[in-house]
Amino acid sequence: MRVEGKPFRTVWLDGQTRSVKIIDQTRLPHEFASLSINTVFEAAHAIKTMQVRGAPLIGVTAAYGMALAMRTDASDTNLDSACAILAGARPTAVNLRWAIDSMRRHLLALPLAEREQAGFAHAGAITEQDVELCQAIGGHGLGLIRAAAARKPGQRVNVLTHCNAGWLATVDWGTATAPIYKAHDEGIALHIWVDETRPRNQGASLTAWELGQHGVPHTIIVDNAGGHLMQHGEVDLVIVGTDRTTASGDVCNKIGTYLKALAAQDNGVPFYVAAPSPSIDFTIEDGIAEVPIETRSAREITHITGLGADGQIETVCISPAGSSALNYAFDVTPARLVTGLITERGVISATRDALAKAFPECIGKRS
Ligand code: MRU
Repeated sequence: MRVEGKPFRTVWLDGQTRSVKIIDQTRLPHEFASLSINTVFEAAHAIKTMQVRGAPLIGVTAAYGMALAMRTDASDTNLDSACAILAGARPTAVNLRWAIDSMRRHLLALPLAEREQAGFAHAGAITEQDVELCQAIGGHGLGLIRAAAARKPGQRVNVLTHCNAGWLATVDWGTATAPIYKAHDEGIALHIWVDETRPRNQGASLTAWELGQHGVPHTIIVDNAGGHLMQHGEVDLVIVGTDRTTASGDVCNKIGTYLKALAAQDNGVPFYVAAPSPSIDFTIEDGIAEVPIETRSAREITHITGLGADGQIETVCISPAGSSALNYAFDVTPARLVTGLITERGVISATRDALAKAFPECIGKRS
């Protein structure tokens, strides 16, 4: 996608320094800055501190982290230690485990002398695959937006999205945003309701920024406004991303997604989840019981960061010093509330049967 008109991806290789470059998402929307990653520890740090975030991008960054580890020491012992370092960076998005397992399988089969080069090549293949999956999701989701546009000729289609499942969360295009960008590019009148997504505000700071860069009309709303808008016919469809969808179609995504799904069902608004296959965990069934939910620092709730009047980024406290806060980062939307999963193989129902039919090769496999 474009930043100030210039094409960018969220992760790329710098041929001169041989480092992996990322966009530092903790600086957005106020500052567009890139960072170099040169070791597996720096890759894990970038994931942990959310300089890179979003399920697919976490996976791709981990893949490059393993390639960097092979540059230092290509032994089996170091391969295993790189897997452990990266796997511990964030618990919820299954893409992380998927990418690490894929890299490990690929590298273990090779002689030590080939592992560095093969590591970068395989991480590159995972990167390209992510772009292809997002584009395919974009094509399938576009059909849903076209259908919504056909139901209200002459009026704009209102899509609500939560958190950032945009190109910043992937390598390019995004998952939930790929249909949006494709619909906008073909001239469908669109407007996006962007949930601010407390506490880290990925919607207000990242989704709004990238939609703005692409010229897509959008409005930031507080997380609690979605139900009200749905009651007043102001939302035609909801499209969100996923960090882990189970074999039976339960969807784990950013905290607050579940409440959007409940409001959507109560108001007859279709609720879609853009779900590339690396984000589907075919080894588990019950999302509420089995998905590990990340708990993050209470400081993300008690403090807020933004641009001060002096143009400097600053962090201020918004709660009483003595109050505690509890910061669950994800929740689970049961499959029964999901209208459909937009996968790279088409829009399917959120059921065990539909998932097994669409991805028969994944049944019974760990990743
Ligand atoms: O905590 P984050 O910012 O990594 O959470 C991101 C989300 O919840 C996204 O919706 C999800 O990863 C899907 S990204 C295509």
